[in-house]
Amino acid sequence: MDFNLQLTTASSLSKVATDALLVVLQASGAAHGLDRAVESALEAALEAGDLELKPGQSVLLHRPARIAATRLVFVVSADASPKAVAKAVASGLSLIKGGGSRQATVAWAGDPALTQDHVQLAVMACREVTYSYRLTKPSAPAPSGLSRVTFRVAAGQEAACKVGLKRGVAMGEGVSYARELANRPANHCTPTHLALEARQLAKTWGLKAQVLERKDAEKLGMGAFLAVAQGSEQPPKFLVLEYQGGGAKAAPVVLVGKGITFDTGGISLKPAAEMDEMKFDMGGAASVLGTFRAIAQLKPKINLVGLIPACENMPSGRAVKPGDVVKSMSGQTIEILNTDAEGRLILCDALTYAQRFKPAAVIDIATLTGACVIALGHHRSGMYSTDEALAGELTRSGEQTADLCWRMPLDDEYDEGLKSNFADVANVGGRPGGSITAAMFLKRFASKYPWAHLDIAGTAWKSGAAKGGTGRPVPLLTQFLLNRAG
Ligand code: BES
Ligand code: MN
Ligand code: ZN
Repeated sequence: MDFNLQLTTASSLSKVATDALLVVLQASGAAHGLDRAVESALEAALEAGDLELKPGQSVLLHRPARIAATRLVFVVSADASPKAVAKAVASGLSLIKGGGSRQATVAWAGDPALTQDHVQLAVMACREVTYSYRLTKPSAPAPSGLSRVTFRVAAGQEAACKVGLKRGVAMGEGVSYARELANRPANHCTPTHLALEARQLAKTWGLKAQVLERKDAEKLGMGAFLAVAQGSEQPPKFLVLEYQGGGAKAAPVVLVGKGITFDTGGISLKPAAEMDEMKFDMGGAASVLGTFRAIAQLKPKINLVGLIPACENMPSGRAVKPGDVVKSMSGQTIEILNTDAEGRLILCDALTYAQRFKPAAVIDIATLTGACVIALGHHRSGMYSTDEALAGELTRSGEQTADLCWRMPLDDEYDEGLKSNFADVANVGGRPGGSITAAMFLKRFASKYPWAHLDIAGTAWKSGAAKGGTGRPVPLLTQFLLNRAG
C-alpha cells in the first residue's frame, strides 16, 4: 500500500479540509494550538462523558460544527514522548482506517512541539496499522483506503521533522518488507525464494548481491551450515549483500541474519503444537533484508554487508543426528547434541565468513532460543556484545525507535556446559540460561572483531489472533547505522 506522507504548518485546524482530522491530546496538561471550534468540540465531548483525558481514550465525531474536516478524532497520549504520541496516532488511525477516509491530518495538542523523533515514530505507526497480509489470503480486507497522512508541525521544527518523515517512511517500508517475508508460508518462502528476494532487492536499489550455492559452501568448509541443510530437499543458499555508501576503504558493518525458512527441530523433532510458527525462524534474515531496503533508500555514508545463511531444518534419512561431529569453517569441531539448536550452527560459519570483510562491527540477528522468550518476554530483544561502545549504541538506537533491547551477560562461567568429550565444543549447554549459552557458543566464532548478537525469538513475531511478523528489529538496526554514519 503506497502512502503519501507529508508535513504542514497550518495554524487553524478547523479550516483544514480533510477526511479526518486527528487531534492527539496529552493526558495531563492543557491542550495547545487548537482553535475555538476544535476546542469547543473537545469540551463538548468531555462534558458528555464520551472522552476522558486518560491514555488510550479516543472519540470520533462526524461532521462537527464549524470544522472543515469530515471527521474529527480525539485521542489521548500517555505523555509527550515520541513513543507515546506514536502509539496514540496508531490507535487514532485504527478508528478511521477501515472507513471512508482517504486522507487524514494529524495534529499534536501537547507540549512541547513535535520533533524529528516524534514524526519518525508516528510515520512508522501509520505503516504499522495499515499493513495487511494478502499473498496467500487474497480475501483478506484490502489495505486501508487511507492514502495520505499529513502531520502538522511547528513552523520552527519543519526542517528536522522533514528528516524524521524521510527516515520514518524508509524504516516503515523496511519493516513492511520484513513482515511480508516473515509471514510467507515456508512452502513459498524457501531458501531459493530468499535468494531471489535478495537479487531483486539488489537490482531495484543498486546493491551488490551474490548467492553462494551448496558447492560453494563446501569449498569454503562451512561444515556446520551444511550439516543443518543436509536433511532437506530444498537446496541451501548463502546470501551476500553489499551496500557502499562510505569510502572504498572504510570498514563495513556486517549484519548476519538467521535464515532458517522452517525449523522442525530435525531429528530432535519439535512437538506439533505451534510448530507452524517456525516459518518465522527466518525473522533475522528478513530483518537484514528490511534494513538493507531502508538503508538503500536513505543512502547514509556507511558501508554495509549482509550475510544470510538460508536453509531448512528437516528430519530425513540424510539428516544430521544427535552425536554427529562436524567441522565448522573456523576449524573448530562441533558435537551436535541437539539438532534443534541449528541456528547457532548456521550462524557460526557466517561469523567466520564475516572475517574477510575486516568489519568495523558484526551484528547477528536470530530467532535463536525459546529461553530468550522466557527471560525477556515479547517486549525487548536479548542483546549480547563483546564491545561496550557497540552495546551502548544498540541500546540507544533501540530506545530512539521504540524497538527495545536489553543487554545480557557473557561471563566465561556460562561456557562450562558447552564442553564435549568428542569435539572442541558442543552445540548445547543445559536448559538453565539457554539464551546465554547460545550466545557463548557464537562468541567462540566472533573473536576477530567487535561483535553483538540480538536474540529476537520473542520479538520477531506475534502469536495468537494477531499472529504475524513484526519487522523487528529493522528500526533498531537502521537507526544504529544512521547514527554510525553521523
Ligand atoms: N528457532 C528455535 C528458537 C525458538 C523456539 C524461537 C521457540 C521462538 C520460539 C531454535 O532453533 C531452537 O529450536 N532452539 C532450541 C535450543 C535448544 C535445543 C537448546 C530451543 O530454544 O528450544
Ligand atoms: Mn531449532
Ligand atoms: Zn531455529
